[in-house]
Amino acid sequence: MNFQIELLKSGITGKDTIIVGVFEDLELMKKSSIPLGFQKQLEMLKASGLKEFRGKGGETVILYSTEPDTLDLPKRLVLVGLGKKEVYSSERLRNAFGGAGSLCRDKNFRSVGLIIPDKKASRSPAKEDLYQRHVAMIEGLLLGAYRFDKYKSKKEKVEFRFEDIVVFMESGSMNNTVRKAIEFSRVTAEVTGIARDLMNTPANDLTPAALADQSIKMAKKYGFRIRVISGKDLVKNKMSGVIAVGKGSENPPQFIILEYIPRTGKLSRNSRPVVFVGKAVCFDSGGISLKPGANMDKMKNDMGGGAAVIGTIAGLAALKVPIRAVGLVPAVENLPSGSASRPGDIIKYANGKTVEILNTDAEGRLIMADALTYAERYNPVAVVDIATLTGSCVVALGKFAAGLMGNNEKLMETIEKVSITTGEKVWRFPLWQEYREQMKSDIADIKNVATREGGAINAAAFLLEFAEGYNWAHLDIAGTAWVEKSGTYTPLGATGFGTRLLIGLAKTISDQKLSF
Ligand code: BES
Ligand code: ZN
Ligand code: ZN
Repeated sequence: MNFQIELLKSGITGKDTIIVGVFEDLELMKKSSIPLGFQKQLEMLKASGLKEFRGKGGETVILYSTEPDTLDLPKRLVLVGLGKKEVYSSERLRNAFGGAGSLCRDKNFRSVGLIIPDKKASRSPAKEDLYQRHVAMIEGLLLGAYRFDKYKSKKEKVEFRFEDIVVFMESGSMNNTVRKAIEFSRVTAEVTGIARDLMNTPANDLTPAALADQSIKMAKKYGFRIRVISGKDLVKNKMSGVIAVGKGSENPPQFIILEYIPRTGKLSRNSRPVVFVGKAVCFDSGGISLKPGANMDKMKNDMGGGAAVIGTIAGLAALKVPIRAVGLVPAVENLPSGSASRPGDIIKYANGKTVEILNTDAEGRLIMADALTYAERYNPVAVVDIATLTGSCVVALGKFAAGLMGNNEKLMETIEKVSITTGEKVWRFPLWQEYREQMKSDIADIKNVATREGGAINAAAFLLEFAEGYNWAHLDIAGTAWVEKSGTYTPLGATGFGTRLLIGLAKTISDQKLSF
């Protein structure tokens, strides 16, 4: 995949396909953003009043060139609708170019030029806006072209990848900003793709050990450290939750530790890191508290939080973001068997707290508790955990936003701000004392389930018991990790939700030197 930046005024040549973002009512930017060979069709489309393409969000149309094939001119023009000018945003671009990416993938268009409305059309964007818009455009294109087809024995299509991508610009003055946006988005799209691959892979191929192996391979490729705790070492480290949840399966649990230490600058291995904790239940049958059969297959994606954390650490390493970052990924399989944990079992954590397991299907919080306890040793700036934790969160927010809770206002605000730029929506729930009271057990310190009502908050209240020693935020991605219906830049299946958000958060903490 080869990226270039070119000036519009030098003319649009080469590239099979030019993709242009268009506002509603076919309000186009300058004439210069329409390549030779398309002017007439465009005028006709405008004059006709035909409804198939007016530039509304989500609309896409392909126009074909009237110029002879012998000339070095684009063969097709793909117009993508951005909606009304007044509501122009990065997310609109991500959606529009997501649709274009998907189209390129399906039609095998590998050589593309990209054009978005210029300064005048959007009232002089600041550098930051211009940067975010280019990030969104490229992320959309690449994420929209993602497919998971490695299990198809007869691939319907040839393997697809973009060959040349040219970003066209009005003026050269923002060259550097656009170059940075390209560099950033190609990495975020790549590692989001890795997170998606991991989540889409079925549990017979993605066991906890396989997830550890994949992480080790990525550590070599992207340049971060890795350590895996398994077997007796889990006992030594008092990883009681991981052991209790994992012991019902033949595939033993693994506690994966990823660490990125920037090579440059004053940052050393002793600087305070940001720690990400990701739930990786490679398959969640519910255990002895067995789930009903319907849709149980989807529980292969119960490692979506872990996948996002692995993608995040890889991304930060690839981008060389100057911040130390640690990923903690407890990986288990939750299965019923003669050796599985039973409802009523009581376990004791490394921090001394005892937990009564009342429902073996509330396993995520049990393994996250080990990781949250482990996180304390890093003296972290902040700890953010991410997990497909509760069905209750899906009931509350649907599929469009992740639940956000935590013990630090500024950290949660920062996550909210970053989420607006990445388009990964989050919504806050309260975490009041009443919820914590509910988690008290009659015979142990706490229990792993309380009332059905407020289930997403109860789960977070449980986690808080292990996260009191630092600034902490929790993301419940049970609804957002997976889509049943393709979206513009989220093809059917795993979304990789959280990967871009956590990379963005780490970068923001680093850029703005935030402490909480
Ligand atoms: N992995 C599930 C949560 C989940 C549900 C993720 C739907 C994605 C889609 C989690 O381990 C679970 O089973 N939670 C239970 C908790 C309950 C027993 C307190 C739930 O949400 O029903
Ligand atoms: Zn469960
Ligand atoms: Zn689960």
